[in-house]
Amino acid sequence: MTNRGNFSGRIGFILAAAGSAVGLGNIWRFPYLAGENGGAIFLLVYLGCILLLCYPVMVGEISIGRAANSDAYGSYSKLGGKKWGYLGLFGIIAGIMILSFYNVVAGWAFGYFLHISFGDLLNEQDFGGFFGSFVNDILNVSSVHGLASSNLIFSLVFMMLTAVIVTRGIQKGIEASNRIMMPTLYIILIGIILYSLSLPNAFSGVRFYLIPDFSELKIQTVVDGLKQAFFSLSLGMGGLITYGSYLSKKENITSSAMVISAADTSVAFFAGLMVFPLVHFLAFKLHIDPTEIGTSGPPLIFVVLPQIFHEMGPVLGRIIGGSFFLLVCFAALTSTISLLEVPVAYLVDQKKYNRKHVVWVMALIIFICGIPSMMSQGMVAALNNLTFYKGQDFLTFISDMSDICLTIGGCLMSIFISRRWGIKNMDTELAQGNDRYMTSGVRKYLHVTINWIAPILLGSLSIVIILEKFFGIENLI
Ligand code: PFF
Repeated sequence: MTNRGNFSGRIGFILAAAGSAVGLGNIWRFPYLAGENGGAIFLLVYLGCILLLCYPVMVGEISIGRAANSDAYGSYSKLGGKKWGYLGLFGIIAGIMILSFYNVVAGWAFGYFLHISFGDLLNEQDFGGFFGSFVNDILNVSSVHGLASSNLIFSLVFMMLTAVIVTRGIQKGIEASNRIMMPTLYIILIGIILYSLSLPNAFSGVRFYLIPDFSELKIQTVVDGLKQAFFSLSLGMGGLITYGSYLSKKENITSSAMVISAADTSVAFFAGLMVFPLVHFLAFKLHIDPTEIGTSGPPLIFVVLPQIFHEMGPVLGRIIGGSFFLLVCFAALTSTISLLEVPVAYLVDQKKYNRKHVVWVMALIIFICGIPSMMSQGMVAALNNLTFYKGQDFLTFISDMSDICLTIGGCLMSIFISRRWGIKNMDTELAQGNDRYMTSGVRKYLHVTINWIAPILLGSLSIVIILEKFFGIENLI
C-alpha cells in the first residue's frame, strides 16, 4: 500500500476529528434548535442522544476505517465485499451534498466577518432587510457598507481555503490547521461568553437555557435532538471512517471518541451559553419579551446577533462581532476540510489520482453544485419555492436530504458491523491500543447499541424524517 498519510498521534487525530464535528451545526443550528425546543429540555435530550447512540456509532465508524486502512468505499468493500462498497459511495455522495450547501452558509459567515470587521455593517438600521438582500443577489459586487460584496466570491474563496489545506495532506494540512484553529476557536468562544454574561439581563437567558421545563418535551424534541446530534458529530457519511483510516493502531479509539464527543458537545453547549444571554440582553434593551425575538433558522446569527453587536456600540461591537464571525469561519473550515477529504481520499485510494489535482477538481465541482443553493435565497423564484417540497427553498431541501442520508448511513453502518463484518472483528480492532477493552463495560454497551439500539432507532428515525418532510405528517409528531 502506498503511503496514504497519517496523523502524527492521538492529539492530532482528536483535534482533526473534533474539528470536523465542531462546525456551523454547533454554533448556528444548535442554539436555534434549543431555542425552538424549550432550551434546557432540548439540551438534556441532546446529551441523551450522544450517550445512547452517537458515541457508539462514532466508535464503530472509526474502527471500520482503521481496520481497513482505506477511504469510505474501500473500507466497506474490503471488510464486507463489493456490494457493501456502495454504502461507502452513498456516504461520499452525502458528503458532497452537505459540503455544497455548507460552503454557501460558510461563505455568508465569511462575508459577515469581512463586513463587520472592515466595513460598516454595524451601522445598518435594518439587519433583516440587509440579510435578505445579502443572500438574495449572489452576484452583487457593488459596494455594500463600504465593502465589495458577492456571495459567489465569498463562497468561492472559502472553498479555495478548504482546498489549499486539503492539498497539503493529512499532517501538514488537516492536522496543522486544526492545531491552530481549534484552540483559537475555544478561546474566542470563552471570551465572548464571559463578556455576554456581564451584560444586563444575561442571567435570564442562562435560566432559560439551563432550567428544564419538562412540559416542553415532545416527540419533535427527540427527533430534532437525534438529527442534530448525528449531524453535529459528523456521523453516517464516512468522514470518520476516512479520518480513522489515518489513525495508528497504537491509539485508543474508545477513549479518543469520548474526547471528540465531549469536545463537540461542549462547543454546542457553550454556543448556547453565548447566544441566550445575548438574546435576553437585546430583549432588555428593546423593552420586549425575549420570545418576541425571532431566533429560529439562519436569522439567529445573521440578523439577531448583528443587531446585538450594533447595540454594543461601534468599537466593542466590531471587536465582539468580528471575533464571533471569525469563530464561525474557523468552525466551518475545520468541517469543510473533513467533508472535502472524504471524496478526495476515495479518488486517491481507489483511482490512484494525484492528490493535488483531485482536490482542486472536487472543490470546483462541489462549489458549482452549491450554486443552486446560493440562488435559492430569493434570486431564482423556482429554487426559492420548490413546488414538490412544500414551497421550501433548495438549500433547505438539500440540508434536509443530508439529514436523511446521515441517519440511513448510520443505520446501515451498524447493520454492517453487526451482521456482516462482525462485532467480534470490531472488538479485535478496538482492543488494539486499549488493553482493557475486552473486559470493559464499554464493550457490552457498544454491543447492545450497535446490535440493536442503533439499527432500530436510526431506521425508525429515517422513516419518520422522510414521512415528515415529504408527506407533511409533522402534525402527528
Ligand atoms: N459536524 C459538522 C457541524 O456540526 O457543522 C457538519 C458535518 C461535517 C457533517 C462533516 C458531516 C461531516 F462529515
